[in-house]
Amino acid sequence: MATIISNRRVAEGIYVMHAEGRFEAKQGQFFMVRGWDNYPLLSRPLSVYDQDERGVKFLYKVAGEGTRMLSRMQAGDDVTLLGPLGNGFPAAEGRTALIGGGIGIAPLFYAARHLEQADLYLGYSVEVYEEHEFRSLGHPVEIDLGGIVLDRANFDDYDTIFICGPEPMLRAAQMKSAMSSGRAQVYVSLENRMACGIGACLVCSVGCENGRKKACVDGPVFRAGEVVFA
Ligand code: FES
Repeated sequence: MATIISNRRVAEGIYVMHAEGRFEAKQGQFFMVRGWDNYPLLSRPLSVYDQDERGVKFLYKVAGEGTRMLSRMQAGDDVTLLGPLGNGFPAAEGRTALIGGGIGIAPLFYAARHLEQADLYLGYSVEVYEEHEFRSLGHPVEIDLGGIVLDRANFDDYDTIFICGPEPMLRAAQMKSAMSSGRAQVYVSLENRMACGIGACLVCSVGCENGRKKACVDGPVFRAGEVVFA
């Protein structure tokens, strides 16, 4: 159980929750989060947006009953956190780009905080949020509002690229990677549905070149070329 320090709305349907506790989350990992007893049945997978000496932060979007309930919680309320889970991002080597679409920008903040150099590309469909926080990290930040954020990054300029966003964006990133020179090691962080978060239910099953894997324990970060998108 973790006590909520704050839970602020940063845009329409977008919130940042700060929950108390000492965690050792790696960049790109996630927690299964719930703030209720029985209904809805499933906890919600939320990637680590940031971590400080007081606790862990989640940048999340209201996308259903569970996240709606989370958005109504207040400082002092308790949430149940299972985690940190998943493999997280590998060590970035060389020149690095972080590309996020929509709520997929969330895990990139914590990753960027730990990188000496990173170019950030943040894509939004309707409204820009948390721009000031990303800029405060001191890395170059390019914002795309209503366009295709992937188009802003030349993959051949980089050695490592981390991408997180909706599946069509990741599929496009995979194609872009395949058509590039191959200089960049490209990794995608999947936003798959999850139920257990610990490898027990198969809800998060992902098609990969060597068979099926589980996004919760084998991912959520995969090499872009490894994933077979449906
Ligand atoms: Fe249950 Fe991944 S969420 S196996």
